[in-house]
Amino acid sequence: MKRILTGLQPSGELTLGSLIGGISQTVKLQDEYDSFIFVPDMHAITVRQDPILLKERIRKNVALYLACGVDPKKNTIYIQSENLYHANLSWVLECNTYMGEASRMTQFKEKSKKQDNVTVGLFTYPILMAADILLYDADYVPVGIDQKQHVELARDVAIRFNKLYGEVFKIPEPLIRNVGFKIMDLQNPTNKMSKSSENHKGIIFLLDDEKNIRKKIMSAVTDSEGKVYYDVQNKPGISNLLTIYASLKNISIAKAEEHFKDYNYGNLKKEVADVVTEVLLDIQEKYNKIIDSEEIDEILNRGSEVTSKIAKEKLEEVFKKVGFGRY
Ligand code: TRP
Repeated sequence: MKRILTGLQPSGELTLGSLIGGISQTVKLQDEYDSFIFVPDMHAITVRQDPILLKERIRKNVALYLACGVDPKKNTIYIQSENLYHANLSWVLECNTYMGEASRMTQFKEKSKKQDNVTVGLFTYPILMAADILLYDADYVPVGIDQKQHVELARDVAIRFNKLYGEVFKIPEPLIRNVGFKIMDLQNPTNKMSKSSENHKGIIFLLDDEKNIRKKIMSAVTDSEGKVYYDVQNKPGISNLLTIYASLKNISIAKAEEHFKDYNYGNLKKEVADVVTEVLLDIQEKYNKIIDSEEIDEILNRGSEVTSKIAKEKLEEVFKKVGFGRY
């Protein structure tokens, strides 16, 4: 079975957009692959984090992934910082990555423009990511398109290392998440529903209560035509509601259009709100059962144990190759 490896940034609260765009794809992949899922908390501090919030979010996101259908029997789930081998391999890889290569990373260029105090960690972030991947001989790395360049850097560094020291690393390939269903902000339907937007009125969080979910959907921005059909250009709000409905019901947009063709906007919203509420309340029920449970600790302990063993072996092989100590 081929291995995939994914990181889930603990940087914000998960939204309906994360569920439809990312989490549901992770759930689909678990049947076909030996799947490793980890929380890159060491990456999170490349921008300033509140320690209490960070700790909370790590657990919360793991619990939400489980509640959304990530099966702990089919996935190895762990926290990056609990495995001391990642940062160690990262150092060796840093010494095999050129300044020019790392300086070309688009995400670094963009993030560093937006911040005043840019840290060295933000610059070396992609190299730690390469270590995350190369430690486990991952065949594929499912990522959003924004992370493709980082996976390519991991490939380049791995190829270089293998040439210099002998075959140590498997060369990973990015598996670009099919963007298929992109969910837009309910108030601003030409923008993506993003957990980092300031205005929360257009964002549905997975843990929003029913009243809030309904309120946000009922006040979604639409248009004045009064007819329900899919047209992203001219009817972004209505098209977004159709997309949400279709993806949660697992039907095509055309089917959703057909279903709603004689509806007015109020009734359309009400039915979309019904479906979203049904799906999210089910997720929340599961979430509430596990968030404080020992089960989640057992899953993470197991993940930490399994991955530490694999990572230790790989790191020792690397240390041997480069001539360190008495390895
Ligand atoms: N940088 C990734 C993101 O922002 C998260 C990540 C860290 C990751 N390490 C990884 C993803 C290794 C895949 C593999 O989404």
